[in-house]
Amino acid sequence: MSQVPPPTAFAADPIGALGIVRIIPIVVIDDAAHAAPLAEALIAGGLPVAEVTLRTPAAVAAIEVMARQPGFLVGAGTLLDPGQAARTAGAGARFAVSPGFDPAVVTACQSVSLPVLPGGVTATEIQLIRRAGLDTCKFFPAEAAGGLRTLSALSAPFHDMRFVPTGGIGPDNAAGYLSSPWVHAIGGSWMVARDLIASGQWDRIRQLTAQAAAIAASHRPGTR
Ligand code: 3PG
Repeated sequence: MSQVPPPTAFAADPIGALGIVRIIPIVVIDDAAHAAPLAEALIAGGLPVAEVTLRTPAAVAAIEVMARQPGFLVGAGTLLDPGQAARTAGAGARFAVSPGFDPAVVTACQSVSLPVLPGGVTATEIQLIRRAGLDTCKFFPAEAAGGLRTLSALSAPFHDMRFVPTGGIGPDNAAGYLSSPWVHAIGGSWMVARDLIASGQWDRIRQLTAQAAAIAASHRPGTR
């Protein structure tokens, strides 16, 4: 199992807590009634975290349910509009994730004290994210953008940044990312595939989550 931070870490430093859990399950949820059993399966599997993407009408209600789950850290993903910051923070999201870097979205998150991970995949984007005062960003779409090779090249000028690669990562390539000194955590949907959630396959989700947690536990970041 991966290391599980104490629940107090979730409130005090959600981004730091992601760096302890190290794998963020990325969820597309169609029915808020699935939120509680999904959170329970993730906790049982050893990854007590979810990024609930704002891609479905059920997402905000699902965040509300997961935010009430003891020992669970829920964030909102796919923030595309500034107005989504207050809405999701109000629902109980402890962190926000955006696919790209939109300064208005970042400012809106900061105005409601919602830690945010904007996405960047080029030197220009990462430089702008850094200038916005952030030291951690999503690296998306990780595999399509060249994966670890690109990330390693970018880490030279941005040696004070931490990255959360997401997109195209699964059990076969997670270890390489998790071993990189530049990777704070990774995101992925493989253990919470939309059809597994929709069909209520909680035991399968727990199994896949436990496998992912084991990969995280055995691949710690190297020294910078
Ligand atoms: C997303 O935002 O959907 C993530 O990039 C998930 O990517 P994955 O499905 O390749 O894990």
